[in-house]
Amino acid sequence: MPYVTERTLTDIALERWSDIPDPRLKEVMTALVKHVHAFVREIEPTQAEWATAIDFLTRTGKMCDEKRQEFVLFSDVLGVSMLVDAINHRQSSGATPSTVEGPFHVPNAPPMANGANMAANAPGIACFCVGKVRGLAGEPVAGATLDLWQTDGDGLYEAQRPGIDGPWMRGIYRAQPDGSYLIRTVAPIAYTIPMDGTVGELMNRTNMSHMRPAHIHFAVNAPGYHGLVTHLFQAGGEWINDDAVYGVKEPLIVEFKKMPAGSKAPSGEIMNEPFYLVSYDFVLERKAQAAAA
Ligand SMILES: [Fe+2]
Repeated sequence: MPYVTERTLTDIALERWSDIPDPRLKEVMTALVKHVHAFVREIEPTQAEWATAIDFLTRTGKMCDEKRQEFVLFSDVLGVSMLVDAINHRQSSGATPSTVEGPFHVPNAPPMANGANMAANAPGIACFCVGKVRGLAGEPVAGATLDLWQTDGDGLYEAQRPGIDGPWMRGIYRAQPDGSYLIRTVAPIAYTIPMDGTVGELMNRTNMSHMRPAHIHFAVNAPGYHGLVTHLFQAGGEWINDDAVYGVKEPLIVEFKKMPAGSKAPSGEIMNEPFYLVSYDFVLERKAQAAAA
């Protein structure tokens, strides 16, 4: 075996990390060694810079607990989370595109009747979401579940509102026999990613936006179809073109139609205040169709 020099070190390390019986782990680790060595050769860090990098990662790890995942946030702002999502959801054209789930989903949201208000008592402008859940061939997907979560009109998720008794700004609706759904909520607003950790420290040394444009998260599921995790974004909203976590996809941008006071809501009631109307059909892909593609 040759002794190491700056020139030979990468090849020697690669050979050593090739001795792994698990073929996938071998593929992953040799690619990691190759790319990390290439990165270090490109940037040529000083010893102090390398220590700073190790310190950054150490402090990032120490920030993580069951409620806060700073490494996921780091992956999000690097665009890696959305890249992993894209690689794993190469859907047929016509299906609603997926996005990352993000950190604010809480499982087991309360079941809501069609048209029920999941934002009762929450601040914000009333917002009705209507549409259908259907398959690629246009067939209604009766009984599909739509699990929603979002900020209230102050830009806060449940996890950010201490002292809330019970679920906040989330609910599970069910598509009707014709695939239709009707949701009453309040309009979400844009919000900042958490800036009090190591990721915020890094972002503050850039000119990048740390904002996310206004959106509602949806997880849509039905037997026989691929599950869909996605967002709907408010067309024309601030930061729609520079979402800090790269979540915005063109087909997910929808008009939040502003309706004046006195207008009839999709629920049939006459609204005393202005409200938003959002119309969107979710298109799911059958599992068999994906297998044949
Ligand atoms: Fe969000």
